[in-house]
Amino acid sequence: MKINYEFGSDNHSGVHPDIMKAIESVNVGYSVAYGDDEYTTSAVKKFKEHFGKDIDVYFVGNGTAANILGLKSVTNSFNSIFCAETAHMNVHECCGPEKFTGCKLTVIPTLDGKLTVDLIKPYLIGFGDPHMAQPKVISITQATECGTVYLKEEIKDISDFAHRNKMLLHMDGARLCNAAVGLNVDLAAITRDAGVDVLSFGGTKNGMMFGDAVIFFDKDLSKNFEFIRKQGMHLTSKMRYISAQFEALLSNDLWLKNAKHANEMAQILFNEVINISGINITQKVQVNAVFASLPKEIIKKIQKKYGFHVFNEQNSEVRWMCSFNTSKKDVMDFVEAIKEAFIK
Ligand SMILES: Cc1ncc(COP(=O)(O)O)c(C=O)c1O
Repeated sequence: MKINYEFGSDNHSGVHPDIMKAIESVNVGYSVAYGDDEYTTSAVKKFKEHFGKDIDVYFVGNGTAANILGLKSVTNSFNSIFCAETAHMNVHECCGPEKFTGCKLTVIPTLDGKLTVDLIKPYLIGFGDPHMAQPKVISITQATECGTVYLKEEIKDISDFAHRNKMLLHMDGARLCNAAVGLNVDLAAITRDAGVDVLSFGGTKNGMMFGDAVIFFDKDLSKNFEFIRKQGMHLTSKMRYISAQFEALLSNDLWLKNAKHANEMAQILFNEVINISGINITQKVQVNAVFASLPKEIIKKIQKKYGFHVFNEQNSEVRWMCSFNTSKKDVMDFVEAIKEAFIK
């Protein structure tokens, strides 16, 4: 039987047609390589429209590189970086952050993927002690790996705390667009205006083919980035194909429309499954993911038809994700398959 992958990840989705058109539109003639081209200049301008003039923006190939290279450029190998236990950089980057930055990752358990000042405080030790890693960066994910979002005020609390301790705030914004739509704010409100210093801005999960950006809100922090990106193998020669995608994503509200659609589909899925007896919703549905626990044998049955991740084996918790491409029919067919698994 054919397995459907609609709800496994927003990465399972294809490329938005407007992005595809943008790629094709720059696929003419010759253009200077490595980002010294007119398309990259124009895409950088777009970023400045959304995030403010006083930023430095660099494009890389994927979200893992954005996180690792962004962090590498603001740390020394004797530093520590604080993140939630569930953070992508802790769980799914194959110790890349540790290898490339040399830093210690200080990992903090949370209930919903969200750090708070109170959660971070007990771990913040060793300042000035040469025997201990020196705390340098707090990294938060917006939207989190648990599908939850930080309010602007919550981010501000953490950034103020970081800055008071001469630390920096990094944000993994692989799903920043979904968070902004979920909160009904613009992209700058929950980044620049909330005190974020370094941002990984995701494109792939919101309709792009590939490409992420690293944004520095303080230009002093970016002075080594070009060299670190090249050493880190993410200075793409045919940069125009990433730049054209970002230009399209950040024009005509495409970022917003795609994320809004994905979030709405997750709400429909949530409303359909919440009343199925045997399903327990485990996280707030604030963006494009539904987290639920259900009996293991039911999960196995559904997985015969639909491919998706078990997020936490211990409590039999799954993650169902929607994307810009998910249709209402996709959702209803999936709900049918879930209901069937409980009956048969
Ligand atoms: C929160 C988060 N950050 C970063 C990434 C990394 O993205 P990529 O797979 O493009 O390296 C992912 C990918 O799933 C993610 O979910």
